[in-house]
Amino acid sequence: MAKKLWDGRFSEKTDRIVEDFTSSIDIDKRLYSYDIQGSIAHCRMLAKTSIISEEEASSLIEGLGVIKREIDRGDFQFDQSLEDIHMHIEARLIEKVGKVAQKLHTARSRNDQVVLDVRMYLRDETLHTTHRLVMLQKVIVDLAKIHIDVVLPGYTHLQRAQPVLLSHHLMAYYEMFLRDAHRFSDCLKRINVMPLGSAALAGTTYPIDREYVAEILGFPEISANSMDAVSDRDFIIEFLSAASICMVHLSRMSEELILWSSSEFGFVELPDSFATGSSIMPQKKNPDVPELVRGKTGRVFGDLISLLTVMKSLPLSYNRDMQEDKTALFSTLDILAECLEIYIKMLPKLKINKQAMRHATSTGFLNATDMADYLVTKGMAFRQAHDCVGKAVAYASSKKKELDELTLKELKSFSSHIKKDIFDILTIEQMINRRKSFGGTALKNVRAAINKAEKGLAVNIGD
Ligand code: ARG
Repeated sequence: MAKKLWDGRFSEKTDRIVEDFTSSIDIDKRLYSYDIQGSIAHCRMLAKTSIISEEEASSLIEGLGVIKREIDRGDFQFDQSLEDIHMHIEARLIEKVGKVAQKLHTARSRNDQVVLDVRMYLRDETLHTTHRLVMLQKVIVDLAKIHIDVVLPGYTHLQRAQPVLLSHHLMAYYEMFLRDAHRFSDCLKRINVMPLGSAALAGTTYPIDREYVAEILGFPEISANSMDAVSDRDFIIEFLSAASICMVHLSRMSEELILWSSSEFGFVELPDSFATGSSIMPQKKNPDVPELVRGKTGRVFGDLISLLTVMKSLPLSYNRDMQEDKTALFSTLDILAECLEIYIKMLPKLKINKQAMRHATSTGFLNATDMADYLVTKGMAFRQAHDCVGKAVAYASSKKKELDELTLKELKSFSSHIKKDIFDILTIEQMINRRKSFGGTALKNVRAAINKAEKGLAVNIGD
């Protein structure tokens, strides 16, 4: 068991069960490179302000570099009795460079140190997340381009409503993931604030230079209140909220792929490489990948609720409860990264069953609204037109026909306004292309939306 760095006032050894209970090393070891980077910046600041000498700082910085390489190589002994990553690195530094290492923790506390590490780590992870979202948007736009003129029924209440272009449907997801990317970028502003120098909670008596540390570590801002700095976890909650919303979008897309790949719909086929079989029913090809994305969404919501609950009754300032923040954050980061990656790889391989989509679009009176709109152009009030077409639908349905399969004579029996030109507007292509109000499904609009998206993506991807 390693000697504790804080046990001066203790006369009894920590119980083993308490050591295991309080230790977070299994979780927070992933912060090691940020912890070392933060410590190096802290040493440079201590030397600049003459709190320690230049030689002392150099030997600390050199030792920290050696430790980083040890951990990189997997050549580092972790020990539950050393609690967390901060203690591990400090204890090892004492072994490596001797007494001078005891100066590393001057003018700082683990309370400001841990939140510095998490902010640096999350700053990088947020950039990786927005990058993945841009890649996903690109895959969606590419798919929309390939299938630009494929039609399918648009649904409300999961009932066939009006024809839309598959590309328009796909571009709806592009919009969702674009908003997600903006949300994450916005979080970054609050993540990117430098807390070191707040010390335990009240600041420090040493003549430190916080701006210098911020400059070394690339933070545009430093925290304004030491008590807030050590107890603020809003930036993690914000990230988890943005992640939850993003998972809602992935989960809704998953739900559609699950439905669409069923025999009842038959709109898409998942690639064999992204589907699984049944251990008992040889004919089965199951959509486990989208199902698991949908399932993992619940865990991300759980992480958000878990941190909100941890924080809701905490008095200022730091409380050990906050150590639980990392379990929630890391779990969400892993799930989100995995789900985004899998969609980026899977979507381009999706097989689209154009015929099944078109067939579904031609049945179910999807042109009823267009017939009502036609009557309005002939001078009828919309409510009246609605009623008239409702009657025509009931009649056609009793004859097992679609509206456009009725004869002109039959149609005329519902309104004298109806003329031969009605058949021109009841076709799928007309229904789609006449919906050219901004944001509507007309081919022209979708092409313009794709063009705009491609320009935005080119700027983000940098090509
Ligand atoms: N492992 C702790 C955490 O993650 C670090 C801060 C500990 N501070 C303390 N005063 N015990 O929150």
